[in-house]
Amino acid sequence: MKIAIVREQAEGERRVAATPETVKKFKALGADVAIEAGAGLTASIADADYAAAGATVADRAATVGGADILLGVQGPSPDSLIGAKPGAWIVAGLNPFGDRARVDAYAAAGYEALAMEFMPRITRAQSMDILSSQSNLSGYKAVLDAAAEYGRAFPMMMTAAGTVSAAKVFVMGVGVAGLQAIATAKRLGAQVSATDVRAATREQIESLGAKAIFVEKVAGIEGEGSGGYATEMSEDYKAAQAELVSGHIAKQDIVITTALIPGRPAPRLISDAQIATMKPGSVIVDLAVEQGGNVEGAVAGEVAERHGVKIVGHRNVPSRLAADTSALFARNLYNFLSAFWDKERNAPVLDEEIGNAIRLTQGGKVVNERLLG
Ligand code: NAI
Repeated sequence: MKIAIVREQAEGERRVAATPETVKKFKALGADVAIEAGAGLTASIADADYAAAGATVADRAATVGGADILLGVQGPSPDSLIGAKPGAWIVAGLNPFGDRARVDAYAAAGYEALAMEFMPRITRAQSMDILSSQSNLSGYKAVLDAAAEYGRAFPMMMTAAGTVSAAKVFVMGVGVAGLQAIATAKRLGAQVSATDVRAATREQIESLGAKAIFVEKVAGIEGEGSGGYATEMSEDYKAAQAELVSGHIAKQDIVITTALIPGRPAPRLISDAQIATMKPGSVIVDLAVEQGGNVEGAVAGEVAERHGVKIVGHRNVPSRLAADTSALFARNLYNFLSAFWDKERNAPVLDEEIGNAIRLTQGGKVVNERLLG
């Protein structure tokens, strides 16, 4: 059993799918591990550290040659995998809806592609959930990015020269990233409020010491769909939400938006007219910018400015903390493969529930029902 890790190929991707720690653990399971030279450098891991952990460090062709399983943060391009075993597994974040052509190419090349972002949100798969592990650190980084763009301080400070007032931070979308954003902003001393469409988040917001801002009295909304994810909201709800947000947002210094709806473009939560009501120097961070954006005027990969308000739209926020996000991503991959490791075959064997959820291609075809739909 040979597990291979090639250098990430997507522009700006600094993460890596294995660490010396997970290399050691895979070796202990009985697998051989090969890694392309330099794959860990952008995540602060030297080739020598992988070698010391027992990996073979080689060029790409030698790394891929004879591989049974290829690990990635984002999926490797099909033509970079020439020499891997027929039917080899590709285990990575594969962006199946956004990059369907590549999924088709994996099928055509006979690979079995497993999309880690399709991992079901069930208790036993929590330690394998890349969306959670990466979003958590994105939520933290979003607050630091906001603080870096903000020309004022976060905490209240009483000095001999006078008082600096606390920043008001509003978090929209309280999933994994939003919860961490609330906690981080609180730790920095901000006054924090937050909103979501899922009623269950109210208690979570309050337990972190933040103020919950919720749309009340709109009939027929719950907001929670399958797997704990949000659903698209009714027009009545959207109108009530816009009104509520308009009143609140004008008083905020920092807004962090994280709202996503699986398989759909991100919901639009802040309009240009609402931005115009904010104070000059305020900062908005749109973590959903790559999924279409929660904020009008947000530009992926840029810090835009409208009405004196900065709108931060960094791409691939997890990659901005590559050492820690790589460590967590690599553990998610190890937790997944080791949970299904069959000692006799010295290979992982998936069960139906998880296999059907994450397997995109098999036997030359696209097999995942979410893609066949
Ligand atoms: P996500 O990244 O899909 O969305 C972020 C947040 O945006 C969600 O809280 C969502 O309700 C909210 N949102 C969507 N539309 C909105 C709108 N119009 N206005 C305001 N907010 C809006 O969500 P994430 O972070 O992946 O978490 C979703 C849920 O899954 C959470 O309840 C989380 O606790 C749960 N979860 C369960 C896991 C497990 O059991 N293994 C693992 C990870 C998360």
